[in-house]
Amino acid sequence: MAKVTKLIKVSRGCLGDEESAEVAEAFAYGYFGHAAKVEEFERRLADYLGAKHVVATNTGTSALHLALDALGIGEGDDVIVPSLTFVASFQAIRATGATPIPCDVYPDTLLMDLDDAEARITPRTRVLMPVHYVGAPCNLQGLGALAARYGLKLVEDAAHAFGSSYQGRRIGSFGDATCFSFDSIKNITCGEGGAVACGDAALAELMRRKRVLGIDRRPPASPSERPSGMTFEVATTGFRYHMSNINAAIGLAQLRKANAFIARRREICRQYDRAFLGVTGLVPLQVNYDETAPHIYVIRVKDGRRDALMQYLREEGIETGINYVPNHLHPLFRHAGRPLPETERAFGEILTLPLHVGLTPSDVEEIIDRVVAFMRQG
Ligand SMILES: Cc1ncc(COP(=O)(O)O)c(C=O)c1O
Repeated sequence: MAKVTKLIKVSRGCLGDEESAEVAEAFAYGYFGHAAKVEEFERRLADYLGAKHVVATNTGTSALHLALDALGIGEGDDVIVPSLTFVASFQAIRATGATPIPCDVYPDTLLMDLDDAEARITPRTRVLMPVHYVGAPCNLQGLGALAARYGLKLVEDAAHAFGSSYQGRRIGSFGDATCFSFDSIKNITCGEGGAVACGDAALAELMRRKRVLGIDRRPPASPSERPSGMTFEVATTGFRYHMSNINAAIGLAQLRKANAFIARRREICRQYDRAFLGVTGLVPLQVNYDETAPHIYVIRVKDGRRDALMQYLREEGIETGINYVPNHLHPLFRHAGRPLPETERAFGEILTLPLHVGLTPSDVEEIIDRVVAFMRQG
């Protein structure tokens, strides 16, 4: 019987007075659409990531859709993407009219398997979309070489990987387009938000136009500068994907805390790894936390015990998750292609344990104690 008094959440954002102060400034400014704080957030993100261009959006899903659309992806095209990702990656591809082609993952990292991805390339393939699952960087050197060999675009789903690096450079400074999410539980949050980082000025400009219905105009320096009855011209398909000044205000305050947040997240993951490494039936993912800014902590639970552990933790007041139901198992994305054995095996074993900066040291100890106690029961 459930005896829960306190629930330790699996994920949550951490907002404070700094975010309130930034939002108060946005209120005082009086215009809540695309305005000065969005532009400042984009500049600061570009500096942080080492990216040439950053285009902020209202969600990570819209960032993915916007990038694919601006790269000219549409009907008749295939995009190869790991099945083990949030459904947002698949829906963003489908929104362009293209077909998501699910591929398998390596068992030890659950990152895109490059050999499997290559085996799925056909003349219809236009894009490789790796997912930096849990925040761990994919093999971008190998992916870049594969994309170049077949003339494909590389669009990274970096929703989990804000702050992660690969070979000493931040994720966001590689690839044709790298898409981030700043939804409420990500490494940093805007409340809701996203961004595309890219190196190509023309692509960035096209995305800026497309995110506001194809309208080409700069934001006003202040509300009083808005010319009344302004006319404009539209020459491209566009969407309503811009980030609001209020969400950017939250993001600016969060960005100042990003390194502290990431340090605490890494510390918790390393503590989990140390505690679970010798425990029979538990297999942590192979993650290098020197380069990973972890968004979630995923462990594999062997011998068919995952669901029982999940239930036990729930009764002990510890929320967990399963990231994710593989997309090729959803009715919408069922496919008759090559099987995905590693993904399906992982689906039966993965468990996401709590990871956020609101966890206290005693929360982390309690989670470890409960998990280890359950596994040792045999
Ligand atoms: C892997 C992945 N891709 C894309 C997204 C979409 O981001 P958003 O929720 O900001 O639309 C998420 C968000 O959870 C995600 O985890």
